[in-house]
Order: sequence, then C-alpha cells, then structure tokens
Amino acid sequence: MYRNAKNVGYYMIGDGALAQLQDILAPRREAMPDSPAVFFLDHCFENSSLREQLPIQEWDMVVFVDTTEEPTTDSVDGYTADVKAFLRGRTPCALLAFGGGSTLDTCKCVGNLLTNPGVAADYQGWELVKHPAPYKVAVPTLSGTGSETSRTGIICNEAKNLKLGMNSDYTMFDQVLLDPRLTATVPRNQYFYTGIDTFMHCFESLDGAYRNTVVDALSEKAIDLCKRVFLDDDMMSDHNRELLMIASFMGGMAAGFVGVVHPLSAGLSMVLHMHHGIANCYALSVLEDIYPGPYKIFREMMERQKIDLPAGICKNLTDAQYDALYEASIVHEKPLINKLGPKYREILTRENVIDRFKRM
Ligand SMILES: [Fe+2]
Repeated sequence: MYRNAKNVGYYMIGDGALAQLQDILAPRREAMPDSPAVFFLDHCFENSSLREQLPIQEWDMVVFVDTTEEPTTDSVDGYTADVKAFLRGRTPCALLAFGGGSTLDTCKCVGNLLTNPGVAADYQGWELVKHPAPYKVAVPTLSGTGSETSRTGIICNEAKNLKLGMNSDYTMFDQVLLDPRLTATVPRNQYFYTGIDTFMHCFESLDGAYRNTVVDALSEKAIDLCKRVFLDDDMMSDHNRELLMIASFMGGMAAGFVGVVHPLSAGLSMVLHMHHGIANCYALSVLEDIYPGPYKIFREMMERQKIDLPAGICKNLTDAQYDALYEASIVHEKPLINKLGPKYREILTRENVIDRFKRM
C-alpha cells in the first residue's frame, strides 16, 4: 500500500517575514468575524517584545506555554481545558504557535483536542485523530525539531512511561512562517542541541530500512545544510540561521522514519525529564558502533562550535531508573526495526542498553 503523503499547506521564508503575519491572518479574520485567534507563545516571551510584534486583537487569547518540561498528556489536557473555557463553543479563526518544538507540539495537540473528544492520551499513536483540527499557523523561534512540518505532536505520558506523538495528517500546520530574525537571540548551546535534531532525524532516516526517494532527497539536503551550518565558524550568522531554519523545515518533512537515537533519547526525556535536543546528543554519544559516520561528524560539529556535553548524567541512578530507561527506549519498535531489523532486542539487550546509559 502506498501512503498518500501530506505536506504543510503554505510556507513563507525570509528575514523579517513576521511582519506579514497580519496579511496571512486577514482572510481568516474576515471569514470568521466572531471568532478569536488563540496565540500559543513559549513562556520565555512573557516579558519580551515579541508580543508587541504580533497581530493580537483584544478579543484573542494568549497562552504562555511552560516549556520548562517537555509537553505531557497532562499539560496538553490542561491547556485544552483553558482554551475550551475561553472559546465557550466557538471555533477559533486560527491557532498560532511561537516557540520551539514544545510550544508547536502543544498547539498541535490542543488543536486536535478541540475537535475530537477525550483526552490527549487517547490519541498517542497513528491515525487516531478522526476530525480535522482548526486552522493552525507555526512560527518557529528555534530551529531543528521540524515540528513546523511534521505530522506529529510529541507528548510524554508519565502514567505509561511513554513518549509518543499524535501522528495524523490533522496534526500538521496549515501555514508555516519562517523568519530567521527570530532565532538571533537563542542561547548558543540551545541553538546547537535543538538544531542538531534535524541532522539526527535525517541520518537516522537515510540509514534505515523504510525508505522513499522523496524523504531521502529531503534528508540528504537537510544534512548538507546542517554540515554547512555546524562546521562553519559561526553557526549563528544571519545566513546560517536561515539555512538551519530551512534544514529544520526539510527535516520535519523527512521525520517519522527515525532509528536508534530517538528511542534512547525518549528514554532520557521520560525518566530524567531531559529536553529532546540535548537528549539526542547524549544518545548519539553512545551509539558510535551503530552510527559510526554520523557520530564522527557530530563530534566534529561539537568541537567546531565548542559545545560540551557534561559526562555522568546517568551515574548513580537506581536500578528501577535504569530499568525505566531501558523500557522507555525499547518500546519504540518501529524506529528500532527500521535500523536494526525485527530482531533488534538481540542487539539491544537490557544489559547493552543500560550499559550505554551508564556511559553517558
Ligand atoms: Fe527529534
């Protein structure tokens, strides 16, 4: 069976593009004059000038998304309840997200829950969302997760020790606006850890068994862009920030076919509440035998950008925590089979996986 693949509806790329957001929103406002827009902003923008640059009307809702921790089923349910209480049955003319993957994914998941009954946990998996979400706009202020173009909204389910997204065409944004000016003030380490996520998605995809030519082409180009950015002297120059935004955009379209890095990374996020980007870096740091080529390039990039990865993060954990790390990693059957085949548990035994965590 061939998959009928969906992409984001529209995208705009360019320095200062944010000024055109009002024009993008105008037809929505006109078509739905009694419907407010809901703006999701990373909480880091609570006291920033970004808010003044946005076309927020007094009847709109602004939600600050706490990204201290990655989105959880509970946090998504909480934001959904707030938005529903504000909307009182009205359909929003648009949901807009400004931030990194956590904020974008929160917006995507809340969007699905506005038009589908139940709670976030009901939709972790593939093709479980039955009704289209309201119109959504993504404005990334951090590059790398590819959330702006991916068909998933990743959430951690604490009760199930499971990090899994709402994989659905309805999860995708209808409009993406990429303005590299928005990433100028990101802290260097965060810029690297998050940006490198797209490199990870793409080599995991190219190194896997589930392939298709379009995804390969996007992945190859995104990897090429990541190398140009992270092996350059200044990864945060104006030009490189634009390149990384485009790499992230492509990486998101290629996502969904990951390998061993993302499962181990999910274990770290679930058990140690580590953010996705840095968790990926720790995961790849102990996968030199499985991904020797990408591992070498990754080390070169870290060295060139003077990024450090403090060692010993999994030292002195309890046996129960090591077990939880193993369980939260090994559960990701699809990506592990993609790289290691159906007998992946023979390679990634409990001892093997726990030993890798101990080396981080
Ligand atoms: Fe990722």
